[in-house]
Amino acid sequence: MLERLTDPRFKAISQPSAQAVALTTQILEREPAPVIAEIGIGIGATSMALCSLLDHRGEAWFFDFEDRVTELAADLAAAGYTNIRTFGNSRATHDSYGWTLAMLLRRRRASGPAALFDFIYLDGAHVWHHDALATVCAKALLKPGGFLLMDDYDWTIAVSPTMRPSVNPTIRQHYTEEQIELSHVEMICSLLLDDDPHFERVPLGYRGREHRRAYRRLY
Ligand SMILES: C[S@@+](CC[C@H](N)C(=O)[O-])C[C@H]1O[C@@H](n2cnc3c(N)ncnc32)[C@H](O)[C@@H]1O
Repeated sequence: MLERLTDPRFKAISQPSAQAVALTTQILEREPAPVIAEIGIGIGATSMALCSLLDHRGEAWFFDFEDRVTELAADLAAAGYTNIRTFGNSRATHDSYGWTLAMLLRRRRASGPAALFDFIYLDGAHVWHHDALATVCAKALLKPGGFLLMDDYDWTIAVSPTMRPSVNPTIRQHYTEEQIELSHVEMICSLLLDDDPHFERVPLGYRGREHRRAYRRLY
């Protein structure tokens, strides 16, 4: 998988998320062995950067489709990383990392406190039906003091080069006009995070359009 990082066809997802790197760097200043999660790995640009930053400390957990995390696990093992765990889901229409996280949360609650992660980077499908559930679980799995980074705050199906109706007319069978026009991640942030007293916003330095939004769990 990591060989695609230099393939021009994957240019759009070939660079690590600067904000994920910055927040993990902050975490490492106070937690020598953090547990971090990337939900949605793409071709591993941020995954690789996070492993490099951890430098064999703590653990990095990766969530995506089974075939993708299997490839990433092999590449990271070949690069010498042993502190990684991968969680794959099927390609069934209604399956996703949201379900995987729900099962993880259920197992953790059955055996003690749920909080596990110092940092969670949620960068998957960016659609309400997968990501609202994933966010509910991520909030519960985040340790007090931990960071949650929400990607594609400004993304809509209407602007997607591959999903917008002019390119992919069948999208209208799956989403309403409203769901095509509105940002699902913005909906999730405003309904599940912005007003939650357990969370505070972490400024990321955007002056204009916000592409990502970050939160710290307070307690
Ligand atoms: C934009 S990419 C992630 C990029 C990556 N975080 C990075 O910084 O390089 C989105 C990822 O979400 C995954 N994804 C989308 N829908 C999914 C689903 N239903 N189940 C599992 N993974 C999904 C895709 O396979 C893809 O790897």
